[in-house]
Amino acid sequence: MKSNPDHPTPTSRFAGRGHASAWPEARELGYDEGVRARTEHLLERVADVVPQAEWPLHAPLIDAINRLKVERNAVILAHNYMTPEIFHCVGDATGDSLKLAQLAAESDADIIVQAGVHFMAETAKILAPEKTVLVPDLRAGCSLAASITGADVRRIRQAYPAYPIVTYVNTSAEVKAESDICCTSSNAVQVVEAVAGQWGTDTAILIPDEYLAKNVASQTAVRILTWKGACEVHERFTAEEIAQLRSEHPDAMIITHPECPPDVLKAADFAGSTGAMAAFVRDQAPKTAILITECSMSDNVAVENPGTRFIRPCNLCPHMKTISLAGIYESLRRLQFEVNVDPDVARRARSSVQAMLDLPGSEKPPAFDTRRPITAADYVAV
Ligand code: 13P
Ligand code: SF4
Repeated sequence: MKSNPDHPTPTSRFAGRGHASAWPEARELGYDEGVRARTEHLLERVADVVPQAEWPLHAPLIDAINRLKVERNAVILAHNYMTPEIFHCVGDATGDSLKLAQLAAESDADIIVQAGVHFMAETAKILAPEKTVLVPDLRAGCSLAASITGADVRRIRQAYPAYPIVTYVNTSAEVKAESDICCTSSNAVQVVEAVAGQWGTDTAILIPDEYLAKNVASQTAVRILTWKGACEVHERFTAEEIAQLRSEHPDAMIITHPECPPDVLKAADFAGSTGAMAAFVRDQAPKTAILITECSMSDNVAVENPGTRFIRPCNLCPHMKTISLAGIYESLRRLQFEVNVDPDVARRARSSVQAMLDLPGSEKPPAFDTRRPITAADYVAV
């Protein structure tokens, strides 16, 4: 195949089969009667959260993506922070970080398109090394993943050889490879307690999110040491903002994510992973809900909970928002951008992720008790 700057050489096993050229560029797709009819049911689904005026722009891409997925035997894993036209109209499997990792491991598709950020695509590749894993935009990073390197974890290991290192999945494969076990926001307390028990220690190192670590510390007797990383979306919420929202909407349920500072959780009614937040709204069916998290989450949850009114004091994740329908379409059309992990790093990272997935189900609900007192967590000294 000749190299062409407009059509990078496909890196997957589909290279040279001519699939990429069989489909028009995103800008050439039009909104005609066929597209309208094939996407009508999806418009009905998202009509309350996607402006009608935008539909003629979204529908041709949604239609093309859904047909291309079948042709490629591809599956789109969409995180809860994707915009609703992605989440509800092209996502085959949706959820929080833990659920997406489990789905990647179980999928029998040839191609996984990760509608989420780069660390999620790497996790999918680690768990499904035989599959082609694509991320639609290489800018889709994460402030937590950028806060720590594999060399940092090696220095922590040297300084604290007696304590297990629990790494949040929002990290690079290299960081996972240096760790003992991974966790997500839906199982962090369970993982810390299990691994401290296995190692026979009273202390676990939970990196790199200092707020998640402090919030875990308030839920467990295990002493937690941590790192000074933070999520740039959740660190910006403040307890004063929550108090203000509470006084303006006294009947609303305030639901937070554990990447928020501890005093934000303390001021809320519920805290948990994005999956646990969505389940809480579904199960409690509050009249009014306030989700203290990324902006698209309320839109996606609102679609499934028409009886709840959402107040939306959100922060955008600039990394998640690099993922668009046009990017997903180009990703499937050109088989770009393929995510690969060095086999030795992947093998060691897999053992950390798999150790998390292999833990037995917990009796504890995947939620943080916001009534518990705030507990200190020290930083590792390296
Ligand atoms: P969860 O979906 O696992 O709660 O993670 C939230 C997040 O910030 C992902 O980047
Ligand atoms: Fe990273 Fe926060 Fe964005 Fe999630 S929301 S990808 S943790 S910066």
